[in-house]
Amino acid sequence: RALTIGLIPGDGIGKEVIPAGRRVLEALPASLGLKFDFVDLNAGWETFEKTGVALPEETVQTLQSCNGGLFGAVSSPTTAVKGYSSPIVALRKRLALYANVRPVKTVATAKKPIDMVIVRENTEDLYVKEEKTYETPEGKVAEAIKRISEKASTNIAAMAGEIALRRQKIRASGAPSIHKGPLVTVTHKSNVLSQTDGLFRTASKAALADPKFSSVKVEEQIVDSMVYKLFRQPEAYDVIVAPNLYGDILSDGAAALVGSLGLVPSANVGKTFALGEPCHGSAPDIQGQGISNPIATIRSAALMLEFLDEEEAAAKIYAAVDANLEEGKYVSPDLGGTAKTEEVLQDILRRL
Ligand code: NAI
Ligand code: MG
Repeated sequence: RALTIGLIPGDGIGKEVIPAGRRVLEALPASLGLKFDFVDLNAGWETFEKTGVALPEETVQTLQSCNGGLFGAVSSPTTAVKGYSSPIVALRKRLALYANVRPVKTVATAKKPIDMVIVRENTEDLYVKEEKTYETPEGKVAEAIKRISEKASTNIAAMAGEIALRRQKIRASGAPSIHKGPLVTVTHKSNVLSQTDGLFRTASKAALADPKFSSVKVEEQIVDSMVYKLFRQPEAYDVIVAPNLYGDILSDGAAALVGSLGLVPSANVGKTFALGEPCHGSAPDIQGQGISNPIATIRSAALMLEFLDEEEAAAKIYAAVDANLEEGKYVSPDLGGTAKTEEVLQDILRRL
């Protein structure tokens, strides 16, 4: 099978980690029968400074003809700059990438092993950005719309169900696991927001009641108590599904459980396309030193493959990364080691 993959390094360490992701894909064993064609694409702050646009139309159109992509990171200015808007936010919209999927996992030998995936709805909720500010006799008031649709909630819950089943299949193939069966936890705050979060809750539960998910246990949890439990008892979670804002916050919080942003992958997923993206930013503080941790990107490449139905290839990459971390010999400075990006990469390539 030939897969065309768009590569968008972006800014800062994006330029160091995306090439590592590419080399891991190229190093997959020939027996898998996968052939990759890579296309280099521009986006980000440097692109904006050069051309006046952060996300060139050519990048979007080329990606539309690719099977998948890898996105590094972009440096976004902290104050609004005229004409600049975040390319990743725009890409999610243009490519209809309605889900953001973030696995958070330690190695199986960790003192407190964690293995969960947060599935975040990516198109609506408070992030529709319909805000307004107005004057009242008591002073200024600002409002934002929180929009939840039955359709998006159903789609995201169904994706969470599919992911739970796929994880169970990978476990059944012998991968070590802390979970016994597939579990999806639906997060909301419908005790307060009975209409918006109420709709998310009922639509999600209805989607997960489909007979194809009969083996999936479904639980629900109010988002604030979930934060508490996420930190006290993270091993309790398998797949978490959440509306956009709660998912954004939970997924960054969960990433803190595993020690470094440099380990945590994500994927932006649509019906026919997946864009892998490390959770970290462009890390200007370490850029150019050759010490950025490539693992978040390498795992993002594997996650992208999962959504392109190449589970076996994905599993090989995950296993090589886990073996690198378990041995702990070639470990980058963010995890307390001294290995360079290239040394971590070489160790993973050797294991592949
Ligand atoms: P950051 O994730 O770039 O860095 C936070 C800290 O983690 C830094 O100390 C950095 O050195 C470290 N770090 C991050 N990734 C690492 C890796 N792979 N290996 C080793 N250490 C790593 O977040 P920060 O500093 O808040 O933002 C820097 C720039 O990145 C900003 O311009 C921001 O707008 C952008 N950013 C972009 C994102 C994206 O493109 N999706 C996401 C987050 C931030
Ligand atoms: Mg975030």
